[in-house]
Amino acid sequence: MKMSLQEALEKHSEQVIRRYPLVLLDGLPLSELLEANWEEVKRFKAFPDDLLIASYPKAGTTWLQEIVDMILNDGDVEKCRRAPIYDRIPFLETVEPKPIPSGLDQLAQMARPCVIKTHLPFHLTPKSFWEQDTKAIYIARNGKDNMVSYFYFDQMTTSQPDPGTWEEYFQKFLSGNLTWGSWYDHVKGWWDAKDKHRILYLFYEDVKQDPKREIQKVVRFLEKDLGEETLERIVHHTSFDVMKKNPMANYSIIPKSFFNTDVSQFMRKAGVIGDWKNHFTVAQNEIFDEDYRQKMAATSLKFRFE
Ligand code: A3P
Repeated sequence: MKMSLQEALEKHSEQVIRRYPLVLLDGLPLSELLEANWEEVKRFKAFPDDLLIASYPKAGTTWLQEIVDMILNDGDVEKCRRAPIYDRIPFLETVEPKPIPSGLDQLAQMARPCVIKTHLPFHLTPKSFWEQDTKAIYIARNGKDNMVSYFYFDQMTTSQPDPGTWEEYFQKFLSGNLTWGSWYDHVKGWWDAKDKHRILYLFYEDVKQDPKREIQKVVRFLEKDLGEETLERIVHHTSFDVMKKNPMANYSIIPKSFFNTDVSQFMRKAGVIGDWKNHFTVAQNEIFDEDYRQKMAATSLKFRFE
């Protein structure tokens, strides 16, 4: 019997979830849970007309997913309420404790081509995507805000490794010792790949500053032709305030045993740029800036932190 991820999460909400440790899979720190599907994920067969949405965790993935789904459905809000975002757009490499469907289980049931989410760094994305010349959209967020957002997420997500204190987390982020590895390697790897493949590279800060302009980039990339009114509807529907109220986009209907919303909300801050200033000490900011200067010295990739 087919069961959506949401149904499975509700049915198995009493499932005992623990904080799974990280293991290295092809050198990438990933939850021990993902090991079961890892070889199959690498062999995943993409369709030329699939669309891959890629990001480092907490870079605005869900926001981009909702934007893409709205564009592909010509701005039809009701169609985009057909299911929670994680059932509309499966998460390729994810594995939950059985019998909750994995990303591959979901994809096996999905009509193809379809939209697929991944947090894999470019070099570990299944080769088939590039052999098939599948399009991908990547969203990147400045490392400081990304770190803060991930810190809260790791607190609320009951299967993620214990984030520890903010100071400990800060060190883990700089050393890339978090699930899905180094933020630096991730944003740079996809940045280099964008010139060799059909990849649209977006920045969270740009979408925040001028959503209409950035949504238009996605519309063009997907070769869609949408009128002004539809575009405005997409901008409105995917704004922070509207998404925060939309149970199909805000993860609020995931049982608390998986996402403990007493600790933090998924739609946490009002999508602000620069929340890191409320968390970084002066010393941490200096350490980050120096580390950033060294690790980003050889790339043309630039971020805005304000
Ligand atoms: P904060 O924790 O800083 O609030 P992801 O989907 O990759 O997990 O990213 C989640 C982050 O994107 C969260 O950041 C969330 O609030 C933010 N976000 C989600 N939808 C957004 C929107 N419509 N506008 C701005 N930020 C959004």
